[in-house]
Amino acid sequence: MNKVTAPKSFRVKSFGCQMNVYDGERMAELLGAQGMEAAGEGEDADLVVLNTCHIREKAAEKVYSDIGRIVKDWRRDDGSSPMIAVAGCVAQAEGEEIMKRAKGVSMVVGPQAYHRLPEMIGKASAGERVTDTDMPAEAKFGALPARRKRAPSAFLTVQEGCDKFCTYCVVPYTRGAEISRPFADLVEEAKLLVDQGAREITLLGQNVNAWTGEDAKGRAIGLDGLIRELAAMPDLARIRYTTSHPNDMTDALIAAHGEVGKLMPYLHLPVQAGSDPILAAMNRSHSVDSYLRIIERVRDARPDIAISGDFIVGFPGESDADFEATLRLVEQVRYAAAFSFKYSPRPGTPAATMEDQIAAEVMDERLQRLQSAITRDQLAFNTASVGRTCDVLVERTGRRDGQWLGKTPWLQSAHFTGECKVGDLVTVQLVEAGPNSLSAVTV
Ligand code: 5AD
Ligand code: SF4
Repeated sequence: MNKVTAPKSFRVKSFGCQMNVYDGERMAELLGAQGMEAAGEGEDADLVVLNTCHIREKAAEKVYSDIGRIVKDWRRDDGSSPMIAVAGCVAQAEGEEIMKRAKGVSMVVGPQAYHRLPEMIGKASAGERVTDTDMPAEAKFGALPARRKRAPSAFLTVQEGCDKFCTYCVVPYTRGAEISRPFADLVEEAKLLVDQGAREITLLGQNVNAWTGEDAKGRAIGLDGLIRELAAMPDLARIRYTTSHPNDMTDALIAAHGEVGKLMPYLHLPVQAGSDPILAAMNRSHSVDSYLRIIERVRDARPDIAISGDFIVGFPGESDADFEATLRLVEQVRYAAAFSFKYSPRPGTPAATMEDQIAAEVMDERLQRLQSAITRDQLAFNTASVGRTCDVLVERTGRRDGQWLGKTPWLQSAHFTGECKVGDLVTVQLVEAGPNSLSAVTV
């Protein structure tokens, strides 16, 4: 049995999407504001927050093995196991089960409740096991301390949740209904990030392009309006957003890609599958054709734009012909990057109980074929960039002496040697391409 004392140091480990990374940063800031010390990478801590992801089965299973490992291997100064909090989407979806299955866990806290961690830690320090998976209407963000994160590239969650109910997806259940954070709060947070050194801000949301709000004059605006407002901040050099739904790609947002120089030429627009019957079964409410038309219009607005996407192979009922249609779509779009996953039945989602679940070997084979097509296109995109001159936002030092790593406008990783520092925008020429990165020389 754990000795119970109030934690003095903490670690937050985030899994899954960028929104979880953002939440993890905010939890760390919250715990820091309570006077707790952040333990470094590899160091033990009194409190470990596992900020979990529920999107696919493997991600959720990992939580239980991580808990086991922490209880067994990690030690506090007095020899007891650290206090463990399970946060994020697994906490939301399986809170009760976690409490039953993993006795070492003191706290379960959902993605909409983590601003209440300090209270929960107080109770846990007195020996209680506490669960908070409420999805309150009350604003979590308003209850958090101001941002303290210093980094050249920062995340800013502007929208959360999902009302689209794709039949495979847990997000509407773990993150709740679509909500947009208020314009004024976002402008304030962006200013703070920029004042603390951010040159690039990535606007985040499960359906980020569904963001709506009212500007300072009370006019209704969409994500394009928010982007234009942020673009007026002199010290902010780059704006990105992710992840988008095809149905929320408005004309105004597409136009912004052609008109706002600080909006980087990159669009992550998941399509999931290349066959209309599968898209219908997924409840995607767009067709292959309507998706391709959007891509065409985005490319008209911004010809050099890098398109990326997400794919699921082996959705229930996916025939060989359906899968071939996905490969054809990939061939047509020529993605600069894409992520592909084997379908994973998620508890409580409609697809989990559909007939015609696809055999594991079939999924393996399809995933391999899709990934090799994507790698081919990724390399082709990078190869076509060779010779381009562009700015790289320097994020960290590389492995070799004097080497720096950063991102091109097209979100490619680029490395070069030269005199600079983290946070600089360095003009380079891209000279050599691999599937995952490019080498560059300063000009
Ligand atoms: N199985 C496999 N992949 C999934 N995704 C979402 N739900 C599932 C699931 N049940 C993928 C989608 C989504 C990305 C974040 O994860 O491609 O765009
Ligand atoms: Fe995973 Fe979705 Fe939760 Fe992000 S929102 S952590 S992708 S389940």
